Amino acid sequence: MGVVMDGIRPGLDFDVEAIQKELDRRRPGQSRFVSSRVESDRVEILSGLFEGKTLGTPICLVIRNLGHDSSAYDELKDLFRPGHAGYTTLKKYGIRDHRGGGRSSARETVGRVAAGAFAKQELAKEGILIIAYTSEIDGIKAHRIDMDEIEKNPLRCPDRNAAKRMEKKILSVKREGNSIGGVVQVLAQNVPPGLGDPVFKKLDGEIAGALMSIGGVKAVEIGDGAKVARMKGSEHNDQMDRRGFKTNHSGGILGGISTGQEIRVRIAVKPTPSIEKPQETVDIYGNERQISIRGRHDPCICPRIVPVAEAMMALVLYDALLRQREIEGKALRIDQLRDEIDRLDHQIIDLLASRRQISISIGQYKKERGIAVRDRAREREVFRQRIRWAEESNVSTVLVKEIFNAILSHSRGIQTE
Ligand SMILES: Cc1cc2nc3c(=O)[nH]c(=O)nc-3n(C[C@H](O)[C@H](O)[C@H](O)COP(=O)(O)O)c2cc1C
Repeated sequence: MGVVMDGIRPGLDFDVEAIQKELDRRRPGQSRFVSSRVESDRVEILSGLFEGKTLGTPICLVIRNLGHDSSAYDELKDLFRPGHAGYTTLKKYGIRDHRGGGRSSARETVGRVAAGAFAKQELAKEGILIIAYTSEIDGIKAHRIDMDEIEKNPLRCPDRNAAKRMEKKILSVKREGNSIGGVVQVLAQNVPPGLGDPVFKKLDGEIAGALMSIGGVKAVEIGDGAKVARMKGSEHNDQMDRRGFKTNHSGGILGGISTGQEIRVRIAVKPTPSIEKPQETVDIYGNERQISIRGRHDPCICPRIVPVAEAMMALVLYDALLRQREIEGKALRIDQLRDEIDRLDHQIIDLLASRRQISISIGQYKKERGIAVRDRAREREVFRQRIRWAEESNVSTVLVKEIFNAILSHSRGIQTE
């Protein structure tokens, strides 16, 4: 699987290790609570980067499937697996690949995570942080939100005690040959106000679309979410005082535009469709059949969806941030400008090195012919010409005089040696 990222500005740092770290978070085979498939998920760069920097051209990343085992799918070849995309894919295209690993497999989320990891790095430069976690499984809710706990337990739940109870539930469901759904909370912190669009690219619409595009996500709630249907205006409205909003029922978005508060989103994740428990289905010829799916499946998708949901949120916010920069005319950031200065200073130093080599050659020439090192007429001419160039280029003549005084005195030193 792979991903092409286009529209990325040139000259940005591209931290491949940070991308690998996010891919490792998504990888299966990390605990008893996720699929035991073994995939190394090493990211390969095909284009768009040079010496760790973006080139401004499309960046293509590829993650090869190494742990594939298509034989597990042989007995399912002609069957429609309940809860899967096999039936709809066949209706749409008239042909389908029954083996795992294709577009309707969770495997496709590697591309999202790789691209999202880069978006996260860029957002972090603006102080924007994206965090997701498992907040509910089978009615067991995370009450204590300890952000440091999330990556410490296999369910990626911020409440250690709730995580323990969730783990028990998942294992008992797994033993029954079944699976279970849950809720994942996605947060974006330090988002500046003003991101998004008032009509067609509303920020809440874009976030909902992006999260809903992840396999297995069946509902997206922003702020109070579905609860608003049972609330009064006085309960839901976020009132304001001099310091700003007093509450955050809106989930950080009003009128399709970020308010500057935390963006709060919940996604409802369905139970993994592949289960061992016998189910009724039909084959591609219309015959009624029984199906029991064995193989290496996630008993609960929530912990694996966490990094994918973060990636999708990051991609939406990064797009919105880039569009907002264009509106505000702030296309360049301080770090990009500093990078440019660094590049220019490097060039100046390279030029000085070349100049030094020539100066050494001139020194040898003068020595062989017994010519004096200092040539005042030539020096006067050098200064006159440099100052004229400085005036033409609108550069301070005082600065140019100082620089060439230093350069000429240094050259004399070299030639005398
Ligand atoms: C990270 C992740 C892991 C998943 N793992 C599995 C799995 O092991 N077995 C399975 O049957 N479905 C799994 N799914 C769900 C299916 O991909 C998804 O339910 C299916 O493609 C149908 O799409 P829909 O549920 O969005 O309609 C996973 C999804 C994600 C995002």
